[in-house]
Amino acid sequence: MYFRAILPFLVASATATQNKLLQIPNSEFGPNPSNVSFYLYIPTKLASNPPVLVNPHWCHGSAQAAFTGTQLATLADTYGYIMIFPSSPNTADYCWDVSSPATLTHNGGGDSRGIVSMVDYVLKKYKADPRRVFSMGTSSGAMMTNVLLGAYPDVFAAGSAWAGVAFGCYADAKGGVNTWSDACATGKVVKSGGEWKGIVEGGFPGYKGWRPKMHVLHGTVDEVLAVQNLEEEIKEWTAVLGLGNVTAVVRENDINAGWTTQSWSVGGVERFRATKAKGVTHNIQTDAETVLNWFDLKCKGPGCFSRPSNSRFGRRAVI
Ligand SMILES: *[C@@H]1O[C@H](CO)[C@@H](O)[C@H](O)[C@H]1NC(C)=O
Ligand SMILES: *[C@@H]1O[C@H](CO)[C@@H](O)[C@H](O)[C@H]1NC(C)=O
Repeated sequence: MYFRAILPFLVASATATQNKLLQIPNSEFGPNPSNVSFYLYIPTKLASNPPVLVNPHWCHGSAQAAFTGTQLATLADTYGYIMIFPSSPNTADYCWDVSSPATLTHNGGGDSRGIVSMVDYVLKKYKADPRRVFSMGTSSGAMMTNVLLGAYPDVFAAGSAWAGVAFGCYADAKGGVNTWSDACATGKVVKSGGEWKGIVEGGFPGYKGWRPKMHVLHGTVDEVLAVQNLEEEIKEWTAVLGLGNVTAVVRENDINAGWTTQSWSVGGVERFRATKAKGVTHNIQTDAETVLNWFDLKCKGPGCFSRPSNSRFGRRAVI
């Protein structure tokens, strides 16, 4: 039996939010074929047409742990965005299913489908902005962020994945749900950009629309998910986003001393970012400021970063 990593997350950044997490009963939203639980944070003062930030927890985590684990919910009180905290139904380890064909396929089912149903519930109930839906997470939550952006490129505007793996890296050839992949975790799943692109595009066959931008971050001494996984995410998303011939700009000491960010832009618009955190283990600490700025969540009114209007909701109204 392999060792299933337990994140040493004893995060001390207790959130002093105005309001509490609210659970939405599973009978009130769907489809949710794997029975993911739905927790919601609604700040007192919502922005008009508020953005939505999904924050899937890490393995052995919970919605409540993700809620108090960063400053993002506290900052929602200031900036008026809504947060969705899904809670994993996989009781063996409370990881996310990032291995089954269902979760890796657009409208295929699995945990990703349930999470997207939560997004749809919030868009409708709170008149939230379908062009400003984001996902961020750490570890298993970062893996799920990769899965959500790959399988639902029509739903999300951007992702921020801290210490995760590429979309499809955990894919189980036998179709297993929430299977741990030692090969991926240890950095032995190495593919070309073209191969990764095929895997992501296979998650939503025929999709030709706009793709969300992505920021991936990884510690160089990650002992749970080898840093090779950062290289695989870079190959994957630069290929998917068509950045193969774009020269990355390098920023040293970005976010923290010793961290290096590579950034890919097209026509002055940043499309992908990868940050290598020197000397950092799997216990990488979320920098809320970095997340907020990447998603432009401090921005109010027109002109904020968002999906272009060719999203699925540009074609059909949310009802
Ligand atoms: C689904 O999840 C809810 C908690 O959100 C739980 O009460 C219920 O028992 C679960 N249903 C099944 C069939 O596992
Ligand atoms: C770079 O790739 C894009 C998309 O594949 C293409 O449109 C563009 O012409 C390429 N630019 C160069 C300089 O090769």
